[in-house]
Amino acid sequence: MSVHLFENLEMAPADPILGLNELFKTDGNPKKVNLTIGIYLDEQGICPVLSSVKQAEKILLEQETTKNYLSIEGEAHFGKLVREQLFGAGHKVLKENLAATVHTPGGTGALKVGADFVAIQFPGAAVWISDPSWANHRMLFSAAHYEVNSYPYLDAENYGLKFDAMLETLESVPEGNLVLVHGCCHNPTGIDLARDQWDRLAELFGRRSLIPFIDIAYQGLGDGLEEDAYGVRAFGEAGINMLVASSFSKCFGLYRERVGALTLLASSPEEAERALSNLRICVRTNYSSPPAHGGMIVDAVLSTPELQKLWRNELDVMRERIINMRRLFVETLKAMGVRRDFGFLLQQKGMFSYTGITGTPVLRLRDEYGVYMLENGRINVAGITPRNVEYLCGAIAAVLEE
Ligand code: LMR
Repeated sequence: MSVHLFENLEMAPADPILGLNELFKTDGNPKKVNLTIGIYLDEQGICPVLSSVKQAEKILLEQETTKNYLSIEGEAHFGKLVREQLFGAGHKVLKENLAATVHTPGGTGALKVGADFVAIQFPGAAVWISDPSWANHRMLFSAAHYEVNSYPYLDAENYGLKFDAMLETLESVPEGNLVLVHGCCHNPTGIDLARDQWDRLAELFGRRSLIPFIDIAYQGLGDGLEEDAYGVRAFGEAGINMLVASSFSKCFGLYRERVGALTLLASSPEEAERALSNLRICVRTNYSSPPAHGGMIVDAVLSTPELQKLWRNELDVMRERIINMRRLFVETLKAMGVRRDFGFLLQQKGMFSYTGITGTPVLRLRDEYGVYMLENGRINVAGITPRNVEYLCGAIAAVLEE
């Protein structure tokens, strides 16, 4: 008889996002609607492979000559493309070589490498995340042994931003702490900082010795590739030292390829190089070196003018579909006689909307109608299609109005 090492383990709770997505798959309701995980779905409800990606993969299949390891930080050219997307090709951060980039397995990998780096270099730093934030932010930083605090963000009564309260808290966060800010398309609320608010934040971070960590996983899905990078670029322009976690999961539809990046902005090339040497250790001790395929696709698309053009068009189509579905959703709810005014949804940006529907109606939607959304009221707007919108709004009308 062998020792039963694991017999006393308790069952862990399902992930609040991925767990619901799995539950959705098991639902037998033919009319079920999945508004949980943040993936782009097309009008047919399919998470498509972009044509630009398919074409790049064909090129890679023919031209790839080795499966040797990538270096710890990945290909230098990939890093350059990441920085160009974040800052724009002519930005002073690029011209003056102030940033270093590490290719990571998705944006989540970038967050974990950044969390480990800060924990090692600034021992005892606590992290501050927005209230609310992506559920995995709290879990990831807790798993990296951080004390996780939050700063005010959502004004739930007015479906707006508590910007003054956010600033007030950030003024009082102890120096040396890490502050996580969503670069665009805030997850879960869809409520973003306006440009003048980013400028105020840049002033604050320029003055206070805090460690800003911008998480920008949805660039291109809010107002556009350049527009969505306003905050990152304003911080870069102000010379603010920071970390940026970015992702190609959403804008390239490369979810399962796990392709993202961690970019560190320092005050000089020499400082960036030293920081990179320390980031390498965090990578090596987590997963050694990045997976190649997703990064090679991104590189091939962005380095081939016709493919880049095709990709930009495909990104525009995704963004516009989301904007159209948000509008159709609000209009259909109104047309169905739902008394609650959902007009505030039209101000929200990106893949998610914060509906304000929480508690029993969320559970009823799931159990009685097969409509799956997060318990905090977040919906993935890209899960709405012209075919399911009436059923979805009818279900919402029933649970809210009965
Ligand atoms: C989401 O918030 O749904 C996405 O970022 C996917 C994930 O990993 O949670």
